Amino acid sequence: MEKENKLYEGKAKIIYSTSDPSLVIQYFKDDATAFDARKKGTIIDKGVYNNKISTVIFELLEKEGIPTHFIRQIDDREMLVKKLTIFPIEVVIRNRIAGSLAKRFGMEEGGELQTSILEFYYKNDALHDPMINEDHIRVFGFAKDDDLAYIKDISHKINRILTGFFDELGIILVDYKLEFGRTPSGSICLADEITPDGCRLWDKKTLKKLDKDRFRWDLGEVEDAYQEVFKRVCKEADIQ
Ligand code: C5P
Repeated sequence: MEKENKLYEGKAKIIYSTSDPSLVIQYFKDDATAFDARKKGTIIDKGVYNNKISTVIFELLEKEGIPTHFIRQIDDREMLVKKLTIFPIEVVIRNRIAGSLAKRFGMEEGGELQTSILEFYYKNDALHDPMINEDHIRVFGFAKDDDLAYIKDISHKINRILTGFFDELGIILVDYKLEFGRTPSGSICLADEITPDGCRLWDKKTLKKLDKDRFRWDLGEVEDAYQEVFKRVCKEADIQ
């Protein structure tokens, strides 16, 4: 399996083709963006931390029966994944009030939710990823009804696994984004990454933010936060 051409460069990752048409390489960059890429910066070694954190989490989810695009970690910044056709939908799962939910409803950050809230956004940078509902998804054909039902069901399962996993690390999984895609044979897999870039992670004791909000809001100790999550995740996975 040889690395070939750059297929796509996003804000935080680059996708390369390989000699196997069913597989691509996902390269994790140190680049960070926020607020529709109006804020840009670098988080030193973020790519290394995010690659490892995602690896551990994808391996955990696979072990728990969740299909993911993950095949294996290649090196510090690269992982081999299945080539998917990505649904143009972002699934956001919220366990506590924070971010745009707090803003939209004028609520204070941190409040616990009785049950998790699942939201959908249309993946479209030019439109700033507008929030959508299941009717938009169905009528505009972003996903078929049975695919959406499966995505919802598996998202709830992922949430049960990940809230427990992070809880054991002393971390509250406040909210996060998931993406899904389909293999050429038709099966649906979890895609993208699960990292402090796309999750809000708070220390359980101090409520210190250990995620990209430190970069978004210039809270300082950005690298330290990513490294802290990396250390706790690797310790749990028994990686030295
Ligand atoms: O901004 P908002 O509160 O809606 O984000 C909810 C969660 O989804 C956050 O953890 C954020 O990092 C993640 N997210 C993301 N990419 C987006 C939108 C949200 O990773 N495009």
